[in-house]
Amino acid sequence: MSPIPVIIDTDTAQDDCVTILLGLLDPRADLRAITMVAGNVGFDQQVANAHLTLNVAGRLGQVPVHVGCRAPILREWESAEDVHGDGSGGLSMDLTDASNAEEHAVNALLRLTAEAPGELSIVAIGPLTNIATAVVMDRTFASRVKSLYVMGGSNNGRGNITPSAEFNFYVDPEAAQVVLDAGFPQLTIIPWAPLTLRDATFARPEYERLYAPGTPLARFFRRMCDATIDYDESVGVEGSTHPDSLTLATLLHPELVQDSAPYRVDVDTVSPLTRGMSSMAWAKFGRTPNATVVERVDRSGFYALLASLLATPTEPSRPVAGLG
Ligand code: RIB
Ligand code: CA
Repeated sequence: MSPIPVIIDTDTAQDDCVTILLGLLDPRADLRAITMVAGNVGFDQQVANAHLTLNVAGRLGQVPVHVGCRAPILREWESAEDVHGDGSGGLSMDLTDASNAEEHAVNALLRLTAEAPGELSIVAIGPLTNIATAVVMDRTFASRVKSLYVMGGSNNGRGNITPSAEFNFYVDPEAAQVVLDAGFPQLTIIPWAPLTLRDATFARPEYERLYAPGTPLARFFRRMCDATIDYDESVGVEGSTHPDSLTLATLLHPELVQDSAPYRVDVDTVSPLTRGMSSMAWAKFGRTPNATVVERVDRSGFYALLASLLATPTEPSRPVAGLG
């Protein structure tokens, strides 16, 4: 099975970093580019987190990092710094000449898919601003994407940034709706609830076992994720949450998916109360599906995948202050 060519569109913090590590080190992945979108934490911090992640894997400068949309389409940017801190646990490195690609992320998405129509998959694990902008700039873009995997929304379940909305769909609900209406030939959605909360949230003892190997990746993982698990436990989420890495994992390892179904998915862009809320209509409602929503994954298989990833020995390209 040849590696899967993939682009990761990300608001790089915490589990976004784990996703990049999986894209770099999983033998089934051929990570072609990283495209940055406004989301979790300050944009420049996100970009630094992306280079830091490449660096810890010993791959600094080996995957192009394209800077994308620095704000949602219509809304004011809202951060999740209360959840993630700076997204990398205060780690730092010499970023001298750790340069970003010249090309804007949206232009890179359009070019790369035009150069290889029907071959590239995109894993979108932040607000969908870049993806939606590519759709609006070129209405043939969606048809050129082999598969789009999106971390977003909840399957008729609780939100996280509000009672009804998940963060990625909440930050840029208009972008989410543009993407949902764009006619991507294969759109798969990994939702927050119930899926992430049940199958991709690891309680403190499981979390500690993930970084027990003490490799550079394991130490990096702990520094990135400590702030988030502390926050999550403080708000009643029972552990370290990994929806982004699960999104890439289901592309690379489809055998992890135990249940999924076609749904018509839409996002509320009107009401202040339920802004960003996802409506996921299952077959009963007779709507034409626009996405496959993953309903259940092999939790222990996903956990084992992360454990194996973090145990991988790597030699950081440059020293990382604070990594120990
Ligand atoms: O709601 C979960 C999403 O927002 C993930 O992409 C994670 O990065 C969080 O910030
Ligand atoms: Ca994310």
